[in-house]
Amino acid sequence: MKIDLAFTPLELGKKNLSGKAVVVIDSLRATSTMVTAFEHGCAGFIPVATVEEARELAGSLKDPNVLLGGERRARTVEGFHVGNSPRDYSSAKVRGKTIIMTTTNGTRALVAAREAAEIFIGAFLNLSAVCHRLKESGRDVIIACSGEKNVFCIEDFVCGGGIIACLSAQGHSPAMTDAARAAKILYDHYSPDIGRMLDESEWGQYLGGIGLSEDVRICARIDSSRLVPVYREGKVFLDGYEEKDIRRQPMT
Ligand code: MLT
Repeated sequence: MKIDLAFTPLELGKKNLSGKAVVVIDSLRATSTMVTAFEHGCAGFIPVATVEEARELAGSLKDPNVLLGGERRARTVEGFHVGNSPRDYSSAKVRGKTIIMTTTNGTRALVAAREAAEIFIGAFLNLSAVCHRLKESGRDVIIACSGEKNVFCIEDFVCGGGIIACLSAQGHSPAMTDAARAAKILYDHYSPDIGRMLDESEWGQYLGGIGLSEDVRICARIDSSRLVPVYREGKVFLDGYEEKDIRRQPMT
């Protein structure tokens, strides 16, 4: 197994994804929110790039079980049912629902990964579960950091480093690119206090500044989920693997 890392969706787009497993990470907050939604019984997500695309798709589907979700500058898009806060995705709101989702960076990173053989949704919340799934897959891995408008973000890089640290443990010695190695080193540095790293990150500070520090706290709950959503044929969903192979520890 070889592990690589893309700092941004722009860089991911320049890589050969054929035959690879890609883990898309937007730890603040899109992929953390998706994992939370699945814990609460959400049926799936359809990620789209723009607000207009989301509205058009919802209009054409006309399905009461389809909701509109997403943000711009971390605030719920006007007229949407849910934003991009994990706290929006309660069982009462999302159980059995499919969310057409548009976020500034996370959903774009997913779309940029679409040529990969397998695409997994990663966050601190499901770090070990993603690692387990990658080991099972045995494919070469690319960690895809969502970043912020194609600029590096520390929180995705460190989360990717956590997955790489997990893959390197227990006798596995994967080959790593320099980017992957650097991510692991930074994860090792921050691992005693991931919450602090998230609080101090630029986006964490922005979220705190607009009253969303509780979201940042939720996104720091390492391994609170055993679910690994997959992105395939335009949709994010649970493919049933978890139920068979990993004992679930439901999120509280
Ligand atoms: C994104 O996709 O850019 C983020 O998840 C932004 C946010 O915190 O809502």
